[in-house]
Amino acid sequence: MMVLEANGLSISFGGVRAIDDVSIAIASGQVFSIIGPNGSGKTTLFNLVSGIYLPNDGNIRLAGETVTGLAPEQLARRGLSRTFQNLQIFSRMTVLENVMVGRHRHERTGIMADLLHWPSVPRQNRATRDAARAALARAGLAGEDDRPAGSLAYGALKRLEIARALASEPKLLLLDEPAAGCNPVETQDIDRIIRAIVKDGITVVLVEHDMRLVMNISDRIHVLASGRTLTEGTPDQVRSDPAVIQAYLGVHGSQEAVRAFD
Ligand SMILES: Nc1ncnc2c1ncn2[C@@H]1O[C@H](COP(=O)(O)OP(=O)(O)O)[C@@H](O)[C@H]1O
Ligand SMILES: [Mg+2]
Repeated sequence: MMVLEANGLSISFGGVRAIDDVSIAIASGQVFSIIGPNGSGKTTLFNLVSGIYLPNDGNIRLAGETVTGLAPEQLARRGLSRTFQNLQIFSRMTVLENVMVGRHRHERTGIMADLLHWPSVPRQNRATRDAARAALARAGLAGEDDRPAGSLAYGALKRLEIARALASEPKLLLLDEPAAGCNPVETQDIDRIIRAIVKDGITVVLVEHDMRLVMNISDRIHVLASGRTLTEGTPDQVRSDPAVIQAYLGVHGSQEAVRAFD
């Protein structure tokens, strides 16, 4: 079964086609990676799929249902969750509070119930807290609940982002550069967490520059260049595709290509 299908997606900013007729189909239980040089449209594709941008063309289906044009909260309710390329952490809130922010879409009581001390409120707070703790444990942050988030090391902050996205109990998780800026040990942590997430039945879409991580963990890799699909295949197919190596060479010079595909 396809968890996510996007057909013929396009979006332009000014005159620039940031995403140009891109189609993807992601099967349940996969790690599906999207790679490409800087500015090739990876984050824009995430923004389209997660409802932040409305496509100029094309359609999106989540678990077989058309969801084109739905807002991020509506997609979240249907099981799609994401992290952002730049850390979105509230550094003065605790670790637990940061994750509880990610749970809000599951809460049915509104502000009136809160004001009236409706009986369901404490019960929901407890459920939210429990789900947040479970998400923290999955991200390797058990026991860090009460620390100010700002006191965590960088690698732990990247994992806190993942915990927050997990707190909404998604079926499909979009990770935008989860290992960016991480050292090899922190990247290894991210690798392990992604594998555990997939084992729990969550489908993962990964945008990541660390080619070792991408090649190790992906079932399929979709390559973008200048907003268009260059190719898609298994890690072995993509690694040995001259057009892929050329796309990286053209933009970044030989260093990144060598590092990426050695
Ligand atoms: N909101 C926006 N307004 C204008 N241009 C944008 C916007 N979002 C993305 N772009 C442009 O789309 C292109 C792809 O950007 P992006 O998706 O961030 O690339 P990547 O994530 O692959 O590095 C870039 O040229 C970028 O400047
Ligand atoms: Mg990006």
